[in-house]
Amino acid sequence: MRAVMLEGKGDFIEWRNAARTLLLERRSPQEIDWRCRDDAAGDLFGPAPETVPLAGVAPQATLTVPQAFLSLAEAVICHSDPARFQLLYRVLFRLQEERALLEIRSDVDIAQLHAMEKSVRRDCHKMTAFVRFKEIEGTLPRRRFLAWFEPDHHIVARAAPFFQRRFTDMDWIIATPKGTAAWDGANLTTSTEPADNPMLTDDTDALWRTYFANIFNPARLKVKMMQTEMPKKYWKNLPEAQLIPGMIASAEASVVAMAERAARDAPLFHERLQAAARAVPDVPSPPAGTLEEARAAARTCTRCALHCKATQTVFGEGPADARMMIVGEQPGDQEDLAGRPFVGPAGKLFDTVAGEVGLNRTQAYVTNAVKHFKYEPRGKRRIHQKPNMGEVQHCKWWLKLELDLVKPKLVVAMGATALAALTDSRQKLSDLRGQVLSFGERQSLLVTVHPSYLLRIPDADRRMEEMSRFRTDLATAATF
Ligand code: URA
Repeated sequence: MRAVMLEGKGDFIEWRNAARTLLLERRSPQEIDWRCRDDAAGDLFGPAPETVPLAGVAPQATLTVPQAFLSLAEAVICHSDPARFQLLYRVLFRLQEERALLEIRSDVDIAQLHAMEKSVRRDCHKMTAFVRFKEIEGTLPRRRFLAWFEPDHHIVARAAPFFQRRFTDMDWIIATPKGTAAWDGANLTTSTEPADNPMLTDDTDALWRTYFANIFNPARLKVKMMQTEMPKKYWKNLPEAQLIPGMIASAEASVVAMAERAARDAPLFHERLQAAARAVPDVPSPPAGTLEEARAAARTCTRCALHCKATQTVFGEGPADARMMIVGEQPGDQEDLAGRPFVGPAGKLFDTVAGEVGLNRTQAYVTNAVKHFKYEPRGKRRIHQKPNMGEVQHCKWWLKLELDLVKPKLVVAMGATALAALTDSRQKLSDLRGQVLSFGERQSLLVTVHPSYLLRIPDADRRMEEMSRFRTDLATAATF
């Protein structure tokens, strides 16, 4: 058995020189006992290895090794598992005969190499995300910063260029138990000497907490995913992580409070957006006792950001005492320009099918779940965008007012957005479609698809089939 003693702190050249010498001597992997100085220190009573002299053995001799292996090896050498040296040498040795070895992902050695590379990559990524610099005294104009990080692997030198590029205009030191990196505006230096945690705190800790508290969305909380992104082992060095347990514990209550607030108050950000709405005279908000008052008040609605880009509010229309209310999703391009619901292609299709089953649209109150057109400009076109649940929640305020004032006997929800706005239900439209359900106080609800869905079905046979189901649904509404 030949022993090779390495520092083993992520230095690829050190391993490469040793491996090249051994390979030129045709040493098989089984003959080599790779050792790392740190590990050996703990092995005082073990048998002393016979150390192979590596210097002076044909340094100029060259070996051909695939570039892909070198890239993998440069990463894997940073791994903290002492078995990495042996694994790398075994793969290098096998590569001499098995030239396509690296392509065999199912090979145990190759799979292991990739797993180690991934772990090192992840560690580097976490370092770039979780280093928190604290300002220390320096000489102006350059400010000085110090950070503490605890990596799993020997990645300090590997990750340091990222910080040099990113924080090039300040002096910094990143100290870790596996070495240190420092940048002074001219030189990037790294060492493998373990450092001590400087235990610094400064004002930026509070800033991090404020930032984190503001980006945290309890409605989107997925605890498992969050802990994968920000594993617990990093929490102790992240000022903002102190907030996490409390945020998780109160997430459910915050979501309920948020939903209540959204249906009640206009959001704060609308104040900044109001400038866009100033062109419209400021009509005081309802209570509106009539549909006309409600329509006038909705003209200046700034409850969500959609009012900024839309031409105007498209409020519902039809008799104030209509027995039927038809609810769509949101105005489209033509409705936005005309200021009336369902006058574009989807409205025309609806009118045609309704006419076929004897449903007279002028006798119904026709409206939308969301009253402003949401779109994305593309060239000269405005491409429809589905409103999100926040926008639907804000606009529900108007829909509820319309329901309270018109008091229809039957409400027809066309499409999933209308269904969600009317019922808050997460049930699938396909499970409810075509049925007359009870709704509100002595009212009924009929759920069907949105006519623009029919316009988008590419296959003619399917379109006809769906059209016929839509006709049946509207016939149910007409005979109600
Ligand atoms: N789609 C809708 O949902 N409503 C309209 O007013 C027009 C198209």
